[in-house]
Amino acid sequence: MRVEGTLRVPGDKSISHRALILSALAEGTSHVRGLLSSADVRSTAGVLLRLGVPLPEVTAGEVVIRGVGLRGLRPPAVELDCGNSGTTARLMAGALAASPFTSRVIGDASLSARPMQRVAQPLTAMGARFEFARGDGLPMTIRGGALHGLTWFSETASAQVKSAVLLAGLVADVPVEVHESAPTRDHTERMLRARGVDVRSEGNTATLLPCGRLDAADMGVPGDPSSAAFFAALAALATSGELVLEDVLVNPSRSGAFRMLGRMGATLRFEDFRADGGEQVARLVVSPRVLRGVTIGPEDVSALIDELPVLACAAARAEGETRVTGAAELRVKESDRIAVTVANLRAVGADAEELADGFVVRGSDRPLAGLVRTHGDHRIAMAFGVLGAVGGNAIEIDDRECVNVSYPGFWSDLARVTH
Ligand code: S3P
Repeated sequence: MRVEGTLRVPGDKSISHRALILSALAEGTSHVRGLLSSADVRSTAGVLLRLGVPLPEVTAGEVVIRGVGLRGLRPPAVELDCGNSGTTARLMAGALAASPFTSRVIGDASLSARPMQRVAQPLTAMGARFEFARGDGLPMTIRGGALHGLTWFSETASAQVKSAVLLAGLVADVPVEVHESAPTRDHTERMLRARGVDVRSEGNTATLLPCGRLDAADMGVPGDPSSAAFFAALAALATSGELVLEDVLVNPSRSGAFRMLGRMGATLRFEDFRADGGEQVARLVVSPRVLRGVTIGPEDVSALIDELPVLACAAARAEGETRVTGAAELRVKESDRIAVTVANLRAVGADAEELADGFVVRGSDRPLAGLVRTHGDHRIAMAFGVLGAVGGNAIEIDDRECVNVSYPGFWSDLARVTH
């Protein structure tokens, strides 16, 4: 398979959720360009609409959002449906915990099986009340109101937990401090600072000081490195050619997969760095090489957590063994990504095994063929879509539509750059 062409992957999912939430809570009118228009981001928009925010339709063009202010959310008349989106449920939980009304948060079957106590615990410690229909997970009822400040030592390194606490502190106008065991993506901190909030990041600690207001902003959303990673892996696995990925977010807390593909032997070149909306973006040029297996340890995981399925697929084509540990969080993503990745690699004839907190993949160049069961998980569909594009492989995906969660144009972009 030869790769060729230039792609601008859709806007970053994490930044798109935050751009909508922060623009909704701001004073005045924000202008946001390049939002990801996907099912997950529409879930956040739908929740904000039900909380009384007059949001226009989410498109990649310029979206104009009139903020309602930190106290402007209104009691919802219906349940708040977060669909498949963990970021929507967990970040909004922070804002809702500090808002003086009751809301009931629901989601699809996959999201309902994912842990929510991790956000309920710190928010309860701040004074909100949470009720769970079934121990953990959705549905979850949030009785919000006045909160007090908090210093929280987060057991799970999670940007969603950190962001929920920061948003609760922001809306409640109280100081909060979150200590994490490992650094996680810092988009919330960067975007709050760009909107005039005093947020400090030192080592693995984020601190927010109350300031009573959030400014509107004019910003662009860079290309999503988690989406770009599929194409970087595709180019690395090709036999010839070169792929150009424009406007990719290069925040170090998100670039682990690119670093790892480089360690596996792929040729990656970043050029034309520039700043956009408090983040760095660059053009990424990737070309193929023979890949070799790597060891991915707990210290690497946070910066490439969402990219592990595609790295596993690349590892199936690399020389030698790839071993991933310290990634137990994969078990509570949109699917159990350890079990689902390994089962699918085996289903197509690759050599893979599960570990409690990761997996081992032994690469080969024999043709891989068979049916992949995605369990509705967008990143599983796209990871195996990349492996299926490799010459000689014949991989069928049971649910190609599930990519709509984060990358609706994935299949046509894949077809466009593979020859
Ligand atoms: C996200 C944080 C990560 C990531 C998810 C998006 C975010 O989850 O896996 O896809 O936007 O904050 P955790 O916070 O659970 O690690």
